[in-house]
Amino acid sequence: MKGDLKENSMDKAYMIGEIAQMQSSSDLNFIADKSSKLIEELSSWNVEEVTLEDRTGNSVTLTRKSLISQLSQIRDSMTLERSKYYLKRLEKGITKIKTGAINDININLWQDYDDIITDSLWIFNRRDNSGNHNAEYWGNFIPQIPNQFIRRYTKKDEWVLDPFMGSGTTLMECRRLGRNGVGIELSPHVADISRMNIEGELQSRGTRSDIYVGDSGNEDIISEIRKKSTDHVQLIIMHPPYWDIIKFSENSNDLSCAGSVENFLDMFGNIVDKTYDILDKGRYLVLVIGDKYSRGIWIPLGFYAMNEVMKRGYELKSIVVKNFNSTKGKRVQEDLWRYRALVGGFYVFKHEYIFLFRKSGRTVKNKKQSI
Ligand SMILES: C[S@@+](CC[C@H](N)C(=O)[O-])C[C@H]1O[C@@H](n2cnc3c(N)ncnc32)[C@H](O)[C@@H]1O
Repeated sequence: MKGDLKENSMDKAYMIGEIAQMQSSSDLNFIADKSSKLIEELSSWNVEEVTLEDRTGNSVTLTRKSLISQLSQIRDSMTLERSKYYLKRLEKGITKIKTGAINDININLWQDYDDIITDSLWIFNRRDNSGNHNAEYWGNFIPQIPNQFIRRYTKKDEWVLDPFMGSGTTLMECRRLGRNGVGIELSPHVADISRMNIEGELQSRGTRSDIYVGDSGNEDIISEIRKKSTDHVQLIIMHPPYWDIIKFSENSNDLSCAGSVENFLDMFGNIVDKTYDILDKGRYLVLVIGDKYSRGIWIPLGFYAMNEVMKRGYELKSIVVKNFNSTKGKRVQEDLWRYRALVGGFYVFKHEYIFLFRKSGRTVKNKKQSI
């Protein structure tokens, strides 16, 4: 069935031929036998995804789980009519590829993407620690965040910019997903960590992972990216410091060193401005940020930062609330925090926000106007 194809590839023509034979048969036993054989073969493969490809390189990728489940429906059909319905659906899924304008999701196989989240409440009980992903860098985000947005808002070989690269989570995901990644990190030491993390990931078909060390609010660095890496990107993922909750460095350009919330928002807004032109019109910007307490007062940093982006020609598309797992230090003190919350009359943070914006493409007369 595989011939000289790659480990997780199946000859598309062979599969289409098998489906055609089943479609032209009026014998339920024949259909059940054929689908059982395909299920048996696929069950012995140790891969998550199966690529059906023909000799001209046209291919479609499905999860092995979904392919087996569709074949099982065919095998278990009690009537000919039902089996023909499932066969037609499978045939359409692998022959008629209909992807969105800004992603590679095959809408004809939409049931195959059950791991793409479309709800606004995200609960993750564990972080993806596969490959070089790890929680060593204090303040990094879980890889599932960039993974979701890269798959939903970019196509293969497009470019993703992360102006607060940290340990390189976004660029590692880009590499895995066949996207080009460009990251900016203020701290040279942290950039070195991310370089090691990223290089340890398998590179997909010549995609690039370009790292720049410096201040994302500095025009020169964006010009350098446009000259040396790419003139345009198709997605921006921003995970700035949550003001001073974690002090990342002593550098005065570091957002975690801002002297006040106003100063923090000015610095953040400046980075939104500087990265505005490089993003293609109609494309998306993701902002991951949480709130903070200051002297017993809840500072809605997330909404303040959201507002800064909206002032600059971006439309708000969604607000996602994501659960926030306790940091290592806090977990030990969980009881203490609960006690403090009860005594002090406040709530312990357990969530953060992910704001999704679209660059509208409309001309913004006065970017700094307030709303
Ligand atoms: C919340 S962390 C990002 C973590 C990242 N998402 C990850 O998974 O590793 C914010 C990062 O922004 C960096 N940073 C702060 N101010 C910056 C600036 N002006 N330009 C570039 N990077 C900056 C910090 O050094 C820190 O590594």
